[in-house]
Amino acid sequence: MRLMIIAGGMRYPSGSGRAAAFIRQKAGKLSLFDQIDLLDLGQNPLPLWDEGVWQGEEKWRQILTPLRERMQAADAYVLVSPEYNGMASPALKNLSLFFDERTTGHKPALIVAVTSEAHNGQYPVADLRAFGAKNTKWVFIPDHLIYRDIGQLINENLQMTDALLEERTLFGLRELRLYAEAMKDVRNRHSFRTEFKYAP
Ligand SMILES: Cc1cc2nc3c(=O)[nH]c(=O)nc-3n(C[C@H](O)[C@H](O)[C@H](O)COP(=O)(O)O)c2cc1C
Repeated sequence: MRLMIIAGGMRYPSGSGRAAAFIRQKAGKLSLFDQIDLLDLGQNPLPLWDEGVWQGEEKWRQILTPLRERMQAADAYVLVSPEYNGMASPALKNLSLFFDERTTGHKPALIVAVTSEAHNGQYPVADLRAFGAKNTKWVFIPDHLIYRDIGQLINENLQMTDALLEERTLFGLRELRLYAEAMKDVRNRHSFRTEFKYAP
């Protein structure tokens, strides 16, 4: 089973990047997944979608072929989204324009929202749950995580100061692993009759 963690921050370094690194460390220690891939969109920005994607431009082929392979290889995802202006990260939304259910479909995803504030973080969760799955067909698992006050919550040595939230993180990863197992059967039995209109 392979896990892909996607950090949706649009700068580097970032709070969401640190959260993603923390989750990678925890997932590694749990040994739930055989492989863990971390894509930090702040460190490796993906250009904004443009018409050249549909024209099959060489520039896009070079970017998308290896990226699709990485995305395709995953059995489960952790989507780490910063809260930007009360929304999920536009970088994550942009990423989702390039793929449809042939790559991400019927695979479980754990949403992790990150904010530097003491009270926000619910907006990226609501945004992704409402608008993140129609074409990707990600299956968001019932639990999600909100990392508030990220500067204090996870230090530079990737230690979390909130033991309960750390426990919740491990719980979420275990739950994600169970869904990854179960959804594999769904994918095997799915007839995939959708017309693939928008992704190359
Ligand atoms: C463009 C931008 C908009 C932001 N808007 C919000 C916001 O609406 N609510 C909030 O709680 N934090 C907001 N923040 C602060 C982020 O919560 C903070 O930067 C946090 O570390 C997650 O973002 P990062 O991964 O880019 O570091 C914003 C940050 C940026 C860069």
